[in-house]
Amino acid sequence: MGKGIKMSINYSDRIPNNVNLSSDRSLQRALEHWQPRFLDWWSEMGPGGYSGSDAYLRTAVGVNAKDWASYGYVKMPDYRWGIFLADPVENRTIGFGDNYGKPVWQKVPGELRTQFRRIIVTQGDTEPASVEQQRLLGLTCPSLYDLRNLFQVNVEEGRHLWAMVYLLHAYFGRDGREEAEELLERHSGDLDNPRILGTFNQPITDWLSFFMFTYFTDRDGKFQLKSLAESAFDPLSRTCRFMLTEEAHHMFVGETGLSRVIKRTLQVMKQVGTDDPDAIRAEGAIDLQTFQKYLNFWYSSSLDLFGAEESSNAAFAFANGIKGRSDEAQYRDHLEVNSLLKVESHQGIREIPTRNAMNEVLRASYSQDCSIGLKRWNRLIARSNIDFEICLPSTKFNRNIGFWREVDTDPKGTQVSRNLFDKKREEWLPSESDHDFISNLMQRVVEPGKIAGWLAPPERGIDNKGLEYEYVRTQ
Ligand SMILES: [Fe+2]
Ligand SMILES: [Fe+2]
Repeated sequence: MGKGIKMSINYSDRIPNNVNLSSDRSLQRALEHWQPRFLDWWSEMGPGGYSGSDAYLRTAVGVNAKDWASYGYVKMPDYRWGIFLADPVENRTIGFGDNYGKPVWQKVPGELRTQFRRIIVTQGDTEPASVEQQRLLGLTCPSLYDLRNLFQVNVEEGRHLWAMVYLLHAYFGRDGREEAEELLERHSGDLDNPRILGTFNQPITDWLSFFMFTYFTDRDGKFQLKSLAESAFDPLSRTCRFMLTEEAHHMFVGETGLSRVIKRTLQVMKQVGTDDPDAIRAEGAIDLQTFQKYLNFWYSSSLDLFGAEESSNAAFAFANGIKGRSDEAQYRDHLEVNSLLKVESHQGIREIPTRNAMNEVLRASYSQDCSIGLKRWNRLIARSNIDFEICLPSTKFNRNIGFWREVDTDPKGTQVSRNLFDKKREEWLPSESDHDFISNLMQRVVEPGKIAGWLAPPERGIDNKGLEYEYVRTQ
């Protein structure tokens, strides 16, 4: 790979790609061997109930910003999943760690194979996991527009799996091929063989959770990809850069989805003239208190995905060029050899070598990014003269990993006894009856132009089409 390679995607191959697959016969054979297994997995574990339906989906046809998307009807099992890397950056050098300033690597250094493989497998595992989690959502879609967006997210997560499997096959030999098989064998929520990360073993059976997931958990994905896009291993960097363009759409689905939930709730509040949650629920909308509880749950569980505040693995990954910080270029010091970072723990402020605190650095960038949508939602609420503010809970709240795992706090981060936490749990996190209420709201709407009562229509459609457009032909 290098200069002169054509960056448009070659669709004449069995596996669409811009990595010149046809010139590497053994890699091509290995991937063609994996492809039918992937398709079996898709039909068994992918979106349920619509395999014969035409969906108006976007397919990547090039990797440049201007031509990477082409829209058209496609049956999901016929989607052209492939291998697309962003264009190489000429003379790219390593941007952080002990090898700062040296040329990036086109191969994985032997002594770092295990660590690189682990990080690629962990990222790769989340992609099919989310498809599995969302498997039955289509059966309760609030509109054809939303159904189409779900499918777009699903096929792209499928492609992200391809992206990681390509790296495993191309750069990790037999171990890589075995890992690629196992990515199809673990399943979300499977007691014997679960997905690697906890959050990805929770089924997502309602659309409020789906929008929360695409807002908060896909955003974790964004920050993991941003830090891997900095990697010294150039094929990994280029893969992740292209995945980020797709990831942006997933977060758009989350942000606009949650905005539309709030918009609808505000309309209903105006109609009924009260902010009594029961009255709002009686009209078939989601009260803001319940919205906040779902947010508390998904935000706190997504924070855990960044790992422990203090981590020797994170230090190793930074020192060795495996994983940088998101937007590494914005930092002054790219070595962080002797620097310290103050991190709050349950035993007070601790000074941690910055390299060991990289998980926390990434988590802080993530939290800041999460807060942007909340500002927008709170403006909507304020404009309706409603006295309510949606808040991100403290990063100490409801944690299962890191310093705060041992400690119970309220959503503001004040320590409370276990007893009090248990008493208040149903005020802070979704209760059984909240789940029942939300799942009862989820009724399938598939008439073109129609939308479920708990959700406002989108401001605009996909690819300049209106809401009336038949985004999925369900017959
Ligand atoms: Fe993804
Ligand atoms: Fe995603």
